[in-house]
Amino acid sequence: MAKVSTTEIRTAVFPVAGRGTRFLPATKASPKEMLPIVDKPLIQYAAEEALAAGARKLVFITGSSKRAIEDHFDSDHELEEALEAQGKRELLKALKDIVPSWASCIYIRQPSPLGLGHAVWCAKPVVGDEPFFVHLADDLIDAPTPCLRQMAEVHAERGGSVLGVETVPRAETDKYGIVATEEREGRISKVKQIVEKPRPSNAPSTLAVVGRYLLSPTIFAKLENTGRGAGGEIQLTDAIADLLSDENVFAYEFEGKRYDCGSKLGYLQATVEYGLKHESLGTKFHDYLRNLASTTLAPKG
Ligand code: G1P
Repeated sequence: MAKVSTTEIRTAVFPVAGRGTRFLPATKASPKEMLPIVDKPLIQYAAEEALAAGARKLVFITGSSKRAIEDHFDSDHELEEALEAQGKRELLKALKDIVPSWASCIYIRQPSPLGLGHAVWCAKPVVGDEPFFVHLADDLIDAPTPCLRQMAEVHAERGGSVLGVETVPRAETDKYGIVATEEREGRISKVKQIVEKPRPSNAPSTLAVVGRYLLSPTIFAKLENTGRGAGGEIQLTDAIADLLSDENVFAYEFEGKRYDCGSKLGYLQATVEYGLKHESLGTKFHDYLRNLASTTLAPKG
């Protein structure tokens, strides 16, 4: 495949203004993106994935009750001094490594919750005229090569915009942006149609966009003219649909396992599986689960 672009994707946008109603009361005063999977909040996994894909500028589109996210990515001198004094070097390093010195964090307040499309549009002044990532922290993806990095490689080969997709059960199409594609080559295909949350009976396929986007800056011009769509919100999906007539948009079936951490079941699944993989906890947690399964979950009778 010919290499059409060598552009590094330098900016990642994290829309984090949503209130996380599915996790209330846990998310009443604390952002859903700060829910931990074992020992790191979801938003830190998100930032790490973007940094591993080459992003240098992390742009958070925030709303009310989201201050904890800013605090998380800021340094805390008092805590660092205390850990230093206690000789807790590893913890200190874990804190200092949250955002490397070469990366910067930018916070933009979304004035009202008008939808994902509007949240992305709010990032326009800091993205500039270059392609950028959008990452939804609810969708946690465990992958040998970070999902956004895989998508940056697709962009380097093909140009255009790239959407991270996976097949979902037909009964669930009304939870996602759904794409119809053509010209499939391995994991990559060309998007010819995209619709936001279609009913299962109307969905053009079962290929769903799952919270990873690499977008051409042309999307901003499209967002300017995007009216309210599904759920009365300004939908990113509708702006992407508009982009299809001007530029290539690719659907990329990424390698990796996605956990829908916006749902309680997905969140618990991620917690268990990341717990099992955890460096220092994994073995003990595995033994605990095996014991639990043989006692509590054994078939009755
Ligand atoms: C958003 C997008 C949708 C996408 C989904 C992925 O929906 O609007 O197109 O498929 O994220 O998680 P939300 O989950 O915010 O309702």
